[in-house]
Amino acid sequence: MIAHSKPTLDVDDYRSVMDVLKSGQLVQGEQVARFEEGISSFVGVKSGVAVSSGTAALHLSLIALGAGKGDEVIVPSYVCSALLNAVMYVNAVPVVADIDRSTFNIDIDDLKKRITKRTKAIIVPHMFGLAADIDEIVSLGIPVIEDCAQSIGAKYQGRYTGSFGVCSIFSFYATKMLSTGEGGMILSDDDRLAGIARDLRDYDEKDGYSIRYNYKMTDMQAALGISQLKKLPSFIERRKEVAGLYNEALQKMAFPIPMVQEGREHIYYRYVLSLDDSSGFVEEMLKLGVGCRRPIFKPLHEYLGLSGYSGTEEAMARAVSIPLYPSLSDEEARKIAAGMVDRL
Ligand SMILES: Cc1ncc(COP(=O)(O)O)c(C=O)c1O
Repeated sequence: MIAHSKPTLDVDDYRSVMDVLKSGQLVQGEQVARFEEGISSFVGVKSGVAVSSGTAALHLSLIALGAGKGDEVIVPSYVCSALLNAVMYVNAVPVVADIDRSTFNIDIDDLKKRITKRTKAIIVPHMFGLAADIDEIVSLGIPVIEDCAQSIGAKYQGRYTGSFGVCSIFSFYATKMLSTGEGGMILSDDDRLAGIARDLRDYDEKDGYSIRYNYKMTDMQAALGISQLKKLPSFIERRKEVAGLYNEALQKMAFPIPMVQEGREHIYYRYVLSLDDSSGFVEEMLKLGVGCRRPIFKPLHEYLGLSGYSGTEEAMARAVSIPLYPSLSDEEARKIAAGMVDRL
């Protein structure tokens, strides 16, 4: 059975976690500080604040931006419910925008129509490893939280995603671009914003009382993250290689490959096919021993009982993600490509 997604771990990763275990310093300490420094300098942003998940990073970012009751936060519909949760945690109103059906990223025209005087922030995920229209969205003048849970290492006009917004968030969940098991980070050039997030992730030993959280990352996770970060460039290279193999198989049959606009570098966190009819594809590939997935379980507009999201609905009907991760062998990738081509 070829798993749909899997972390890519090696002996250096095991060793780095073992070293922390042997040291006895398990909780947030020197490794966390080094991991923050590593991620922020990789992306090119001043400060990093490591937390326990991408969701926690979104939550603290919204608090740091002052989002609360009565404020509106724009999010795309075609995304996991973590974004909706974070908006709900701060009692703000989620305003759901549609996506561009050809890129799966937030549709800027639809987004613009949803801006009001109460719009406090826009959360912009770079879906599946391809940058959204980030320059244009930032130029609208509303604080943008870039959601790089799927896009660390992806570039827009030569600059890394995560360096455009007022802040950016990352997830290091087991099967993300790089993994700490669970984990997340907030990056920002704004010292005040980073300072609020740093204060709120830890409740202990504070003079004045206000609501704080236990959103800390452990040193074991951070050590794994440091070790994984060293391999990120080679992970991305391997992802591109496998994507190239899939592209070639599709192009031979004149089937459209995932779109990449001029000036963007896709890192293929997911390789998503847009099928005329996706019904049955996942089940048939499973019979062949290949795990495929519909990338989004349920779009946010459906959770909220909204309608009129044609881009998202088309993506829900057509999109299927096939396995792509650095540890996938050429043999496995060829088997997947052959199975996919047979079923198109
Ligand atoms: C785009 C996006 N944002 C946020 C998250 C939430 O991250 P986490 O699972 O680490 O809380 C995910 C999760 O997978 C995601 O895909």
